Amino acid sequence: MLSKVFTSATLGIDAYLIEVEIDISKGLPYFATVGLPDNAVKESKDRVKAAIKNSGYEFPARRITVNLAPAHIKKEGTTFDLPVAVGVLIAEGVVDESAAKDFIILGELSLDGSIKPVRGALSVAVLARDLGKKLLVPAANGREAAIVEGAEVYGIESLPEAVEFLNGGRAIEPVAPVRTEGARRDQHSDLSDVMGQAHVKRAIEVAAAGGHNMLMIGPPGSGKTMIAMRLPGILPDMSIDEAIETTKVHSVAGLLDSGAALVVERPFRSPHHTISDAGLIGGGKVPRPGEVSLAHNGVLFLDELPEFRRNVLEVMRQPLEDGKVSISRALVSLTYPSEFMLVAAMNPCPCGFLGDSQKECVCTPLQVRQYRGRISGPLLDRIDIHCEVPAVRYREMAADGKGESSRDVKARVDNARKVQAARFKGIAASNSRMGSRLVKRHCELSKDSARLVETAVERLGLSARAYTRILKVARTIADLEGEEGIQTHHVSEAIQYRTLDRQ
Ligand SMILES: Nc1ncnc2c1ncn2[C@@H]1O[C@H](COP(=O)(O)OP(=O)(O)O)[C@@H](O)[C@H]1O
Ligand SMILES: [Mg+2]
Repeated sequence: MLSKVFTSATLGIDAYLIEVEIDISKGLPYFATVGLPDNAVKESKDRVKAAIKNSGYEFPARRITVNLAPAHIKKEGTTFDLPVAVGVLIAEGVVDESAAKDFIILGELSLDGSIKPVRGALSVAVLARDLGKKLLVPAANGREAAIVEGAEVYGIESLPEAVEFLNGGRAIEPVAPVRTEGARRDQHSDLSDVMGQAHVKRAIEVAAAGGHNMLMIGPPGSGKTMIAMRLPGILPDMSIDEAIETTKVHSVAGLLDSGAALVVERPFRSPHHTISDAGLIGGGKVPRPGEVSLAHNGVLFLDELPEFRRNVLEVMRQPLEDGKVSISRALVSLTYPSEFMLVAAMNPCPCGFLGDSQKECVCTPLQVRQYRGRISGPLLDRIDIHCEVPAVRYREMAADGKGESSRDVKARVDNARKVQAARFKGIAASNSRMGSRLVKRHCELSKDSARLVETAVERLGLSARAYTRILKVARTIADLEGEEGIQTHHVSEAIQYRTLDRQ
């Protein structure tokens, strides 16, 4: 007896249709899976067998061969349990094959026949919709899959439930599409919590407005982490497409909370400095997205930047430049998106108190130089805005006058982004993403401004790259003011954001 069931596997953030063919023939009991399965897939047979028996069905004591096609796609994980079980039950005449063929089926089975959530359900829902198929998923993945407009998603809790549903003996309503318009932003961390530090708040506003990477330099406790965490709250809301793409990455990584739907907040990821390259850019036998992809459309915060291993920072250059990472392994080569804003923080010196008015720094000039030298020039060149964050003075901390709220700042950022969207019409996402031709076209300087930049470049010995950074940031500052032309005060503010070039 031969049966066929559709399921899906994800490669990167895209899902592919997989056909599960099951042949049951006479002979000694035997159960084999072919078609490039990994160990978790091979072990599936024990779960399938137990789940079928414990759900009260008979498990055939014959030769069972499971083929997962196409064979060239590596199959991994536990998503194939349910389709394989359904396939076996079709071959045994328990499940109606004609109903099952309209579905893409995925789910992990427990030994007792209950169904556990899987990774990547959102991507599979996109595939199901595009192929005009219905989707049968673990109940815990239902909301996530139902985000996809036009997808018909059914969530189920157990194998018997799936069997009854497919046989028409149990009515299950499709999961209601999740409304996302009303989704609220995180309210508990607002920029108005930050006392003083007006120039840092200004710098982060400029960074948000132009999508510029930023580095904060200041002693411990000066509020660098606190300020960085408030960046997602002043960035424009994600579009539905951005939200879906970010959710896909989190879904494939298995990081969506059970029952969660769309990721509507821009992500804020802050990996520890002991992270490996694979953890940062993605990896593993079947590569999983790394932090740069989990931060897609959001913020990647690297605290204590000089503590990160040097090669880890080197591998970040490609995703920073291209907005995506390509990972090649023996079996697969795939790409994950990685459009993120980098925010980094560091102490001014190893002890942390260089330039502090209260505590004395104990580092030698050589130590300071070595500490800063740990960040490579090329990486530093990709950071548009450097900003010093001094220890906050007590008077500022105690002043009750609250600063501006994230909402007010975000309104200005939104406006500046609208100006950019109208200017670039999709060619570039923001000022920070301008290529050299766009810089030439949109960052023209008056004579006075040009002279100002030239003097600065000469005096500070800036690289050509740093020069371009200044132009881009000046463009953003002008956009925040709604100015068409870049003026001298825009340029001079942009020059101030090259602190580290000055040393
Ligand atoms: N400007 C500030 N306004 C209000 N609280 C602050 C400020 N700076 C620091 N703090 C307080 O100090 C704590 C430590 O700040 P943090 O952001 O972790 O500093 P850093 O990352 O620079 O070491 C914060 O959680 C906050 O409570
Ligand atoms: Mg910190």
